Parts: sequence; C-alpha cells; structure tokens
Amino acid sequence: MRFILASNNIKKLAELKAILSGFDAEVLSQTEAGLCFEAEETGGTFEENAIIKAKAACGALNEPAIADDSGLVVDALDGEPGVFSARYGGDACRSDGERTALLLRNMRGKENRSAKFVSCIACVFPNGDIITARGECGGSITPSPRGKGGFGYDPVFEPSGMDRTMAELTAEEKNAVSHRGAALRNFETKLREYYADK
Ligand code: IMP
Repeated sequence: MRFILASNNIKKLAELKAILSGFDAEVLSQTEAGLCFEAEETGGTFEENAIIKAKAACGALNEPAIADDSGLVVDALDGEPGVFSARYGGDACRSDGERTALLLRNMRGKENRSAKFVSCIACVFPNGDIITARGECGGSITPSPRGKGGFGYDPVFEPSGMDRTMAELTAEEKNAVSHRGAALRNFETKLREYYADK
C-alpha cells in the first residue's frame, strides 16, 4: 500500500506520518511524490474540504491520497474560526501568532470559553471510492498563550481534563488526545474494513 498525504503543512504532515507509522503502508507527502500545489478549500464543511484536497492529489497522481481538513470551533464565537481557521483574520493575520492573538481579542469578556478542535480525514482512491473519518477534541480557550510545541492554536487550547495547553504536551501526548489522532484511529478502522471487503 502507498498513500499520498495531500498537505503542505510540515507540522501537520509530521503528525499524520507519526500516527500512520503503525500502518503497513508507505506514506509520502505530495511534495515527495512530485506534486507542489494544494487545492483551494471551497467547501462549507471540514469533510467537503478534506475530500476536495484528497481528490485533487489523487487525480493528479493516480494514487490513493489522504487529506485532513481541520480547525477550531469556538462556542462563544458561533463556531468561528471553523473551516476558516487557517485564514482567520484574512490578510491582516499572516502567522499562527497573529491569528491566535485575534482569537484572544475576540474572546475578551466572554465567559463561555468552551471550544473543540475538529479533524476530518478523507482518502480518495483512483477508482472513485472515498473513505472519510472524523475526530474531535473538546476543551477550552485559555486567557493567554502557553507552550512552544505543536502549531496553530495549540498554545491557547487546553483539552478537557488537562491543565496544560496542546502546545505544552509532547507530540505523543498530543496525538493521544487530539482531534487528528482520533480521526486517524477512526480512519484506520474504516480502511481495514474497506480492504477486508475487497
Ligand atoms: P487546514 O486543515 O490546512 O485548513 O488548516 C486548519 C487550521 O486549523 C490550521 O492552520 C490551524 O490554524 C488550525 N488547526 C488545525 N489543527 C490544529 C492543531 O492540531 N493544533 C492547532 N491548530 C490546528
């Protein structure tokens, strides 16, 4: 088995590869496979965007491709930044630090700090078959950033039942509780069922 990971986010690729290392499969990033574009995320849901990205890589390389679309859903902000997590604040926010600062500004004065990370994985096969899997990690938005690990909104997100932010966890600890870890474990089950039915 060989899978292409349709992402250019180096930190996300490292997490996907680490979690997929338990699989009996060769896993290549799309850049390693010679593909240097990422499809535009025009979908309205995490699942639609994951399928768009995986379809684009599968279509270009004619190999099974896996994509993840993920983001942070904050209750007090009516679900924002949601599918726009990577583009939150538009051109005014070009770095993870700027997007995180914007989130904390928008959360000023909000009593309800509850939020969740969501990840949807899609795997698209050259014959048109599609497998999707979802994972979530509930928690809360901290008053200020803490920790240097991970990426994105990790420094301001404390998973439920923990007194550390995602950015204060080791990579293994994060994979054990994260939305992406949960989605990939669901995905592994579905992939095994898919091949068992063949
Ligand atoms: P996309 O899935 O490439 O569209 O990016 C989703 C965006 O959501 C990332 O750029 C991050 O800002 C955020 N995000 C997704 N997963 C995580 C995570 O595990 N930690 C922190 N931020 C995340």
